[in-house]
Amino acid sequence: MVKKTIRDIEVKGKRVLVRVDFNVPLDIATGAISDDTRIRAVLPTIKYLVEHKAKVIICSHLGRPDGKVVAGLRMAPVAQRLSQLINLAVSVASDCVGSDVKTAVTNLKPGDILLLENLRFHAEEEANEPSFAHDLARLADIYVDDAFGTAHRAHASTVGVATYLPAVAGFLMEKELEALGSLLTSPRHPFVALLGGAKVGDKIGLIQNILSKVDLLLIGGGMAATFLKAQGYEVGLSLVEADKKNLALELMAAAKRNGIALLLPTDVIITNNINPNAKGDVVRVSNIPANKSIVDIGPQTIEYFSQKIRPCQTIFWNGPMGVYEIKQFAGGTKAMAELLASLKATTVVGGGSTAEIVEEMNLADKMTHVSTGGGASMKFLEGKSLPGVDVLLDK
Ligand code: 3PG
Ligand code: MG
Repeated sequence: MVKKTIRDIEVKGKRVLVRVDFNVPLDIATGAISDDTRIRAVLPTIKYLVEHKAKVIICSHLGRPDGKVVAGLRMAPVAQRLSQLINLAVSVASDCVGSDVKTAVTNLKPGDILLLENLRFHAEEEANEPSFAHDLARLADIYVDDAFGTAHRAHASTVGVATYLPAVAGFLMEKELEALGSLLTSPRHPFVALLGGAKVGDKIGLIQNILSKVDLLLIGGGMAATFLKAQGYEVGLSLVEADKKNLALELMAAAKRNGIALLLPTDVIITNNINPNAKGDVVRVSNIPANKSIVDIGPQTIEYFSQKIRPCQTIFWNGPMGVYEIKQFAGGTKAMAELLASLKATTVVGGGSTAEIVEEMNLADKMTHVSTGGGASMKFLEGKSLPGVDVLLDK
């Protein structure tokens, strides 16, 4: 890793501002934290700082309050969960800047943990306003970035603050950059990428960047419809991105030129009404009726994809294979998750919905790495630099 980490800097007795991504999913009805993966993921960094007698000042955004105080997006429940998980007291500040926060910081003793209020209650955060970044920086002596999931955003707490403080990576940031970075620089071959999700449009940059690195590309999910349509198949009422059909053909041609197999489903599950009680039928891709939509990959495709994946040394997976929110159409996605979990190969799962599925299925610890960043992992694998990483000190 080219960036300095908390191991490379003396933190004892110092005030350390730690940017984390505690943007956790909340239950719509109760407001309770429905998945605490992102909190558990930064425990090694927080524990290290506590053990090394730093004064730990944690900050994060939660949701998109757009510069206003939103009661349901306060950090108190997150502080409570962090406290339970780390088994230490975590105090919560009433804001993230201002005189009350300064007092709370002044009162910190080495090893204490303070969580600041939601950064996005201030519009200056997303605007990367220099005076706001400076106010945050004045709270601390050192800045630690462990918010990989927010590293694609150039905000005051991810970029601006590093102008004023020595900036190093936390352990989660380091782990993410190493796991995702090795996919791009030194994957063990054969290397397969399994891609799904609704839209080709979201994955173009990724496919273009990994085409020169993978040996095999498997495409399922909603986006397969655009590829199938481009090849002349009837895809019924499935969402087709008409403006992406040529691009799909170009990607297939580029794969062929590079000697990479780009494989599409051979059979699919279709239905005429996408709802929780809908019934699906299996058809060959050559037999999709005009009045139905594709909702999952079929059993033959599961078998075909599995055969291709099993001998691979490195597998990257991003995007569900079908409408996994509906039980009857989650089969393809679940089969792929279970297959990956059973392999000895290096298995890396992209963040966002794919990570949530793997967590829900209790398979996360059977994978080599499950990213905590959705947009950030995509951007990184597209080969683009992440502003939150660029500002960290080089070794
Ligand atoms: C995320 O969950 O994608 C990150 O926390 C960034 O949040 P944002 O998409 O609202 O900027
Ligand atoms: Mg996002």
